[in-house]
Amino acid sequence: MADNRESKRRDAARRAQRRRWMLIGAPVVLVAVVVAAALLLGGGEEADAPVAGSSEQLALGEEVFVANCATCHGEGARGGLAGPPLVHEIYEPDHHPDSAIRAAVANGVTPHHWDFAGMPPIQGLSDDDVDAVIAYVRERQQEAWGGPRPPASP
Ligand code: HEC
Repeated sequence: MADNRESKRRDAARRAQRRRWMLIGAPVVLVAVVVAAALLLGGGEEADAPVAGSSEQLALGEEVFVANCATCHGEGARGGLAGPPLVHEIYEPDHHPDSAIRAAVANGVTPHHWDFAGMPPIQGLSDDDVDAVIAYVRERQQEAWGGPRPPASP
């Protein structure tokens, strides 16, 4: 009789223990499922996108610029034999916002400001590449102007 009561008590204790594990285990499993789903849905690409303004993004932007833009726009976007300097004041963000750079890369540019032959669409760049090259151009402008805008003309 005493033995029976003792074993019932132990069963109850084991059940309580199992409930505690369920309480801890369920949230852990839930978090794991959410993380796995986020990784699957986001794909590798999302995880690889460099953070806006980070040194990784600027490094990627420089790489993209050197490979695709520098032949015309020159080193550091300071102008070249076949393209204007993008650090020129007409390319300040108020006059040529990021969307204008994006459009130039996607569609090319027919000559309108300068006497160069124009710009063809630049193919083979991912969205991350274009974001990065924009960040790189803006960085070069700020460096050339000593701030986000060119100094006002006297
Ligand atoms: C084959 C030469 C060439 C290449 C390569 C080139 N560009 Fe250009 N780009 C030009 C010329 C020329 C203009 C100026 C057209 C005008 O206004 O007369 C221009 C203009 C621009 C403009 C100004 C667009 C506007 O709305 O006036 C931007 C921004 C630009 N280029 C960005 C880039 C970027 C970024 C790359 C590389 C991904 C690139 N370009 C590659 C020749 C080139």
